[in-house]
Amino acid sequence: MISIGIFHMKGGVGKSALTVFLADFLSSIHEQRVLVVDLDPQGSTSKALIPEDKIDKAFKSGLSLTALLRHACNGGVTKEQVECCLLHREQTGKARKGSVPLGALSVLATHREDWRELNEEINSLERTKRWRFLDVLKDALAPVKDDFDIALLDFPGSEILFWTTMGLRATDYWLLPEIPDFFSIADIESVVELVHEAQKNSTHTIHPLGTLLNICPDRKSDTYRKARAALSALEDHKAIPPLFSKEAEVLHRPEAMKATDWGSEGSKTLVSRYGPATKPFHVGLRKLAKELLERLGRSSGRDKLSVVANLRRKLRDFWRS
Ligand SMILES: Nc1ncnc2c1ncn2[C@@H]1O[C@H](COP(=O)(O)OP(=O)(O)OP(=O)(O)O)[C@@H](O)[C@H]1O
Ligand SMILES: [Mg+2]
Repeated sequence: MISIGIFHMKGGVGKSALTVFLADFLSSIHEQRVLVVDLDPQGSTSKALIPEDKIDKAFKSGLSLTALLRHACNGGVTKEQVECCLLHREQTGKARKGSVPLGALSVLATHREDWRELNEEINSLERTKRWRFLDVLKDALAPVKDDFDIALLDFPGSEILFWTTMGLRATDYWLLPEIPDFFSIADIESVVELVHEAQKNSTHTIHPLGTLLNICPDRKSDTYRKARAALSALEDHKAIPPLFSKEAEVLHRPEAMKATDWGSEGSKTLVSRYGPATKPFHVGLRKLAKELLERLGRSSGRDKLSVVANLRRKLRDFWRS
């Protein structure tokens, strides 16, 4: 299992929406076994993927990511304990012409009250003792590392130093979402600093996966052009992970956000979840998922939609010849 941290300290850059999109597209089109680790106590990513009553039921039974972290703090986590805390989305329906069923995936959700208590307990420890617990998330995920291809880690939008560092210590590859906005780009320095800090005094390495221009409203605008130029300059200095291509950027598409609305987790296919009117958006997300896998050296060659399109093209050429 490779873990990808979708990390920016700034709120509202689309980390959670992007986590949901990637989870959907990687599991549905590329048949990756995806685990979503929702580190945000607000739980919006978990709720976009799993029905809320299922999450509540698990929480009431004491099953959550926070419960696992407590086990890890207290000496260790068994595979059975992790499996009990996983919330599953099963694949429903079969692929039909032009319709891809949403892939199966699993989610670990953060219990908000437990999270507050755990943070308070850890923050009340002496500094040296506190930092001993930095690897608890990595330890908690270790028992299921052979059961998933990719873990997507969604970070909360504020800097809670212990929690953020713990997430980064479980991150193999860093995906930096950036919006074309001056304040967001001006914040990059502190984000980069945190990623470096998290690796200090540890053997853990966080590899740069990519910087993604996210929620792009208008590529013709001056703001977009300046943002892309600023990020390219930072990329040239190797200060940030390499930019994803323009075709892989995520467009501003409010109508596609129904994919993250309450109730959308009941959808069965990509089209019913994202809406048929958002084709350029779909194409971009497919391109992003593909580029991401290529960068990981995991090009699946299993983009189901492309396979069907290629087959159709080949048949047509054969027929015409
Ligand atoms: N591609 C998109 N098109 C239109 N709106 C979007 C897109 N992606 C995200 N949004 C909207 O932008 C807002 C911020 O998105 P999101 O909650 O994913 O950001 P975040 O970085 O996870 O925020 P936080 O740090 O608060 O968790 C939300 O209202 C979301 O609906
Ligand atoms: Mg979020």
